[in-house]
Amino acid sequence: MNMSSADMLFTPIQVGSMELKHRVVMAPLTRSRSVQPGSIPGDLMLEYYSQRASDGGLIVSEGTSISIAGGGWFGAPGLYSDEQVAGWRRITDAVHGQRGYIFSQLWHTGRAAHVDSTHGTTPVSSSVHPEYWQDPTIQESTPHGWRPPSPHRALEIKEIPYIVGEYRKAAKRAKAAGFDGVELHAGNGYLPDQFLQDGINRRTDIYGGSIENRSRFLLQVVSAMVSVWGGSRVGVRIAPGGTWNGVSDSNPIALFDYVAGQLNHFGLAYLHIIEPRIRGNVLIAQGQGHIATARLRRIFTGTMIAAGGFEPGTAEAAVRNGDADLVAFGRHFLANPDLPKRIKLGLPLNAYDRSTFYTFAARGYTDYPFHEQRWESLASTQASHAKNN
Ligand SMILES: Cc1cc2nc3c(=O)[nH]c(=O)nc-3n(C[C@H](O)[C@H](O)[C@H](O)COP(=O)(O)O)c2cc1C
Repeated sequence: MNMSSADMLFTPIQVGSMELKHRVVMAPLTRSRSVQPGSIPGDLMLEYYSQRASDGGLIVSEGTSISIAGGGWFGAPGLYSDEQVAGWRRITDAVHGQRGYIFSQLWHTGRAAHVDSTHGTTPVSSSVHPEYWQDPTIQESTPHGWRPPSPHRALEIKEIPYIVGEYRKAAKRAKAAGFDGVELHAGNGYLPDQFLQDGINRRTDIYGGSIENRSRFLLQVVSAMVSVWGGSRVGVRIAPGGTWNGVSDSNPIALFDYVAGQLNHFGLAYLHIIEPRIRGNVLIAQGQGHIATARLRRIFTGTMIAAGGFEPGTAEAAVRNGDADLVAFGRHFLANPDLPKRIKLGLPLNAYDRSTFYTFAARGYTDYPFHEQRWESLASTQASHAKNN
């Protein structure tokens, strides 16, 4: 008799060409620890990912900038230089050394950027909304701390193939860096989401207006990624009903139903859904179930990863009742390097510390203890107490 209730999470599953031994996925997590200048994955990131790799487990990398212009988050690593490819290669080798798998999450921040992070390039979006850069609650990561976004401009239609080409180039670099595949970050109000949602996208050309037109950019990017990797090594992450970074839609159900249906044509490795109960990295709807995953399950015919606000028990239930095939954990995974093992054995979880999510050092990054270390440090504390008493 297994001592935990997480049996379904530990049944193997074939995802594209990967043979996963469990379904506890590490969600993409921006942690701002790349080496500067150059946004290069270094020793600290190598240690962090090595800690979190597991036999037959899937990691989705943190959001990784496809270009300098798309790299609006200071501290995020990139995939546009040879040094970045070499840095990632060490990480993918380490993950593979533990028989784990790792996808690269391709990221263009669009308007969510400050020019100090894009080397002076004006941020771009589907349309222009001055209220975005005038909103004092919105802050971007820059070399000088958190700053309001810079004014952005709308992409001209003739520039769009170039941006799609940058995704293609980054997908090629991800191959050179040894990843097992690539995931498109199309959620949380970043560039593809800025095209999808009509609260932002006010274009009147073939990239705006109807749901079909607003989905065009995303589908072209997916097509470019698939042209490099083949569908079975490409994933797509969407946030149906998501409102992070000031995005919104007048009919999110119709929009994301359409997107999920179109994605059926690519033979993807997976569709990765962020539940609307999560806004970026904050739970905003206590008690809400995994409604987006359950709905899109009826539309998307391939493998689905659910994410956002899951606990081990609710993750197990989502897989058991067939709504999801895998579940990605964000905050729990950053705080528990050995999360799959803890879930499997029903062990207690470390609490995450929000104050170190986006700081630049080892503290709050590579120093979360493994379960054995908790016991070792407890045992040594008890031993020293015994000696002193
Ligand atoms: C520190 C932090 C950084 C994040 N960075 C990313 C990212 O780079 N890409 C992404 O798609 N989501 C990102 N997210 C969202 C998570 O992947 C996940 O969807 C969210 O944390 C909700 O899942 P959870 O309840 O398991 O934490 C981030 C979340 C946190 C807490």
